Amino acid sequence: MSRTVYVNGEYLPEEEAKVSVFDRGFLFADGVYEVTSVLGGKLIDFGGHAKRLARSLSELEMDAPVTEEELLEIHRQLVSRNDIDDGLIYLQITRGAADRDFHYPADTAPTIVLFTQSKPGLADNPAAKAGIKVISVEDQRWGRRDIKTVQLLYPSMCKMAAKKAGADDAWLVEEGKVTEGTSNNAYIVKDGKIITRELSHDILHGITRAAVLRFAQEAQMVVEERAFTIDEAKDADEAFVTSASAFVMPVVEIDGAVLGDGKPGAVATRLREIYLDESRKTAI
Ligand code: PDD
Repeated sequence: MSRTVYVNGEYLPEEEAKVSVFDRGFLFADGVYEVTSVLGGKLIDFGGHAKRLARSLSELEMDAPVTEEELLEIHRQLVSRNDIDDGLIYLQITRGAADRDFHYPADTAPTIVLFTQSKPGLADNPAAKAGIKVISVEDQRWGRRDIKTVQLLYPSMCKMAAKKAGADDAWLVEEGKVTEGTSNNAYIVKDGKIITRELSHDILHGITRAAVLRFAQEAQMVVEERAFTIDEAKDADEAFVTSASAFVMPVVEIDGAVLGDGKPGAVATRLREIYLDESRKTAI
């Protein structure tokens, strides 16, 4: 079935939607993106994603082609036109089309594209009941991972390395410490304490991370924001990752080392429940 997508002010059937071959997103990965989940036809944490988008654009000196209000309306139109109950909305803004030149062009209109991915039962992913296996890989990405750019080749290579190794995903390691997962933030739990790397240019400032840490603190759980080593992770009681598409996903194996009894831990399981309950309540 053909989806309706949004391109530069128009809602079009996906076959008719086109972007220029000169688009800087295509030529230079000169663009940023957001992924927002939809549960029961409503957007999860739209405000958080809109705020981070504004920050990514500003860090790259790019203008926003639409206001936050217009962006919300586009998201809602796409949910309704594509009859999305559970799924994701992908949004990408690039600097636009200009003759190829490393310098930013002066007066180019940004390109904005949004499309939906229907994922029935997104919140009931069986992987959350079994937990996922991760391998560790050296973090060879650039140094501004706090900007959500479309330069995703290295994370893609790492996901393939994980797949070849029979694992589900990879955790990236820099100077001996875990930065984050290929497309998620990484956490360990030791003696009841939730440990996750502090915010900096080294990691993406996850919207799910912010919500989960807030819910953890509200539930009187202890949170420590600091970097941890892969050895510490292998020795942890439990581990998990967070992202807009996976919510809270338990990790049960790291580089072949089984955590606890090899089943999703109590903290990750509880946080997933709280996150889904609370997010559904505030979804718009
Ligand atoms: N990925 N770290 C990285 C490198 C990510 O790509 C993502 C999100 C996260 C989690 O951020 P959030 O909680 O805001 O989704 C952390 C998205 C889901 C993706 O690329 O599909």
